[in-house]
Amino acid sequence: MTETTLTRFDDVRDAYRQKGLKQALYDAAGVIMADTLLTLWGDDHRRRRRLENRLFRRQTFEHYERDLLPRAVDEVLGPAAAEGRGDVVPLARRIVVNLTATAAGVDRPEGTPAETDRLFSYAVKFSEGATAVHSTRDPEELRAEVADALERWDEEFFAPSLDRRTELFSRFVAGEATEEDLPKDVLTVLVRNQDSLDLPRDVVRREVAFYMLAGMHSTGAATTHAVHGAFGWFDDHPEDRERMVGDPVFLQHCVHESMRLHPASPVARREAVEPVTLRGGTEMAVGDTVVMDLWSANRDTDVFGADADRFNPRRAIRDDVPRWGHTFGGGRHACIGMELDGGVPADEVAGSPLLLGTVALILRGLLVRGAQRDPDDPPQQDPNITRVWWGRYPVLF
Ligand code: HEM
Repeated sequence: MTETTLTRFDDVRDAYRQKGLKQALYDAAGVIMADTLLTLWGDDHRRRRRLENRLFRRQTFEHYERDLLPRAVDEVLGPAAAEGRGDVVPLARRIVVNLTATAAGVDRPEGTPAETDRLFSYAVKFSEGATAVHSTRDPEELRAEVADALERWDEEFFAPSLDRRTELFSRFVAGEATEEDLPKDVLTVLVRNQDSLDLPRDVVRREVAFYMLAGMHSTGAATTHAVHGAFGWFDDHPEDRERMVGDPVFLQHCVHESMRLHPASPVARREAVEPVTLRGGTEMAVGDTVVMDLWSANRDTDVFGADADRFNPRRAIRDDVPRWGHTFGGGRHACIGMELDGGVPADEVAGSPLLLGTVALILRGLLVRGAQRDPDDPPQQDPNITRVWWGRYPVLF
């Protein structure tokens, strides 16, 4: 079996689109990823994706962006601004945990910051389990920790959320509840289709846990990267701070530029299930694998220019290339939350973005409140993660 690594933007795009390649990044992560959407293949993937897609429509995102998110941003950033200081890492986390839990179908009966932090720490542990392939830790020890977190999360959050939806659905079937009474979330979709999709409880549990990790961890990290990118840009272009608050297109370019430079996963990996010829001519036999180096492909100078390594929201790029590069993946497993987090850019010439996106909304919420780096308390990277990943990002308002 051979493994090929792709580092060029167009080669990675071609590999994402190849029909004969299946997901191969999570083989060591079964405890949390087995039979989740991201690891399914063929018809199983198509059927489940079609059902879950219904929740991830632009109309729903518009509702989030108009009604839920601004409230969540105010509730979290308002008190921090009143206090005059805060840390972007937990602040962003509180905003996105609640939003992701709503989309995934995880109830938060207490609604307190402490409960939000507990929910997030589960998501972090689940993420650690999902990225087991890159972990330097003892695999068995990590697996046991993730399994334990899954049990505790089940008891505290998942089981009550599942019970509530199962009961609501029974009442719906009996004609005692209407469509409007059913929550619009992933767990409800799975409860409604448990029989047709042949989903045992442990698969439903992993799917919801996977949504938690997919939504929370990457959105929180993307927000802190965007803040860091913006502050660095203002150091050299102070006049752009005001522009970023008032100009949604520029704000979104800033967010997309930081997403390009910091993909949530630095690589994707696929395995050939039939003979495949890659764009560069490489022939793959069944069982051969390909690693798509997203970090390098997103810095491909042929596509992003000679300064591809640098943060430049004013960058001009080809029309057929998203500003975030491959950060949301591509092909059949392309991120279902892409428009929710990244928004929907307008035509470059005509007007505002169709959707701003969660990350841009939070960044704007920080900037309008006057957030700036705390000169006496510089940001710190998470010591447990080898790539750039902010552990603390103190700001003054
Ligand atoms: C900045 C934030 C995010 C980034 C960078 C990101 C990135 C990605 C990437 C790269 C993939 C594809 C992985 C692969 O092909 O191996 C993916 C898939 C996925 N993402 Fe996201 N994601 C983000 C936010 C979200 C959110 C907010 C949600 C949901 C609430 C979400 C749910 C999913 C799901 C369900 C999949 C699997 C899709 C499938 O296999 O069909 N993501 N994401």
